[in-house]
Amino acid sequence: MSANHPIDTLADSRFIRACRRQPTDATPIWLMRQAGRYMPEYRAIREKVSMLEAIRTPELAHAITMQPINAFAMDAAIIFADILTPLIGMGLSLDFVKGEGPAIDNPIRTAADVDALRTPPTAETMPFMTDAIRLCAADLTPRSLPLIGFAGAPFTLASYAIEGGGSRNYQMVKGMIWDAPDVWRRLMEKLVIVISDYLIMQVQAGASALQLFDSWAGVLSPADYAQSVAPYTRQIIANVKSNPQSARVPLIYFSIGTGTLLDQVVALGSDVISIDWHLSLDRAWQYIGSDRAIQGNLDPVLLFSEWPALQANVDRILAEANGRPGHIFNLGHGILPGTPVETVRRLVDYVHEKTLIAQASAER
Ligand code: CP3
Repeated sequence: MSANHPIDTLADSRFIRACRRQPTDATPIWLMRQAGRYMPEYRAIREKVSMLEAIRTPELAHAITMQPINAFAMDAAIIFADILTPLIGMGLSLDFVKGEGPAIDNPIRTAADVDALRTPPTAETMPFMTDAIRLCAADLTPRSLPLIGFAGAPFTLASYAIEGGGSRNYQMVKGMIWDAPDVWRRLMEKLVIVISDYLIMQVQAGASALQLFDSWAGVLSPADYAQSVAPYTRQIIANVKSNPQSARVPLIYFSIGTGTLLDQVVALGSDVISIDWHLSLDRAWQYIGSDRAIQGNLDPVLLFSEWPALQANVDRILAEANGRPGHIFNLGHGILPGTPVETVRRLVDYVHEKTLIAQASAER
């Protein structure tokens, strides 16, 4: 690895130290989906260009990535893109439909559909990601702020690729798991190739941490997760960890509704486990074990409540973390459109102030 990868400079940043369970001067905070529609600056850009155009234009992706960094005291940035963009290079036709979310015109339903999927290197299909990450890292590293790269985990990506968009019951994806296991396996194998390469490329371009988004894994039974999903997610993490460049950055695994699968989540091998709000942070830590950092776990809907309710919940989470190194404050799922900007600012500042004070009084 070249001597001047951002991770060398950022080893002492709050976020990277917390990922490595080292003590920090205050609890680091960033918010999943921190760049997005709740910000007027974001909506102004999106009035002029489509979602995909913004992702494919490095100057715009850079500008959007920096919006929450310039507006709030976030301890990390996350590159502006979407978990679904790698599906385009595999041959799927993806669009983001206003008011409805992602839509895929040619979803995967048959063995022939899976066979037709390509697995080209990211450098060929998404060169704009390298450029966007370089621009962001050049801006962030001198400010001691790490850039998080990300990808969708194979189950969550496959759920969009098969259902053709968001889903309520995951009927078609579960149908493939149960009724066409060989087709499912071939699809998973192709996703493992593309996602592993994509994550490694993001580190090579300058990302200092990685997050795997497995938003919908909680819809699976423990048995299905164990047999049909976890092996592939574990393989991706192993691939990232066996590459000497990407092995140097912390990897976060995020999912929702997997509190009863935590043993399996831990066995995937990520450095940090991001939890939703169904489990208290202290109990989650008991189950997960002290050799992992934890990210989370505020209910994103609390950002619509009055300050006293939000504050009480932040206090509770910080009390559960109990000053233990290795807590990254975050939401349990992405920030919702319509979240008041002033509440985001107040939350970020409060987490810093409260934990800085706690440390100062502990020293006295
Ligand atoms: O966090 C960030 O600020 C970085 C950018 C980012 C986006 N999507 C931008 C985006 C990230 C990390 C994602 C992840 C993502 N995308 C997930 C996993 C996290 C989660 O929330 O569960 C999922 C499931 C998707 C798929 C997706 N993309 C959906 C369902 C939608 C529509 C609904 C929604 O949440 O907005 C998108 C569109 C999308 N991705 C937007 C943004 C800013 C909104 C696009 C717009 O209307 O401008």
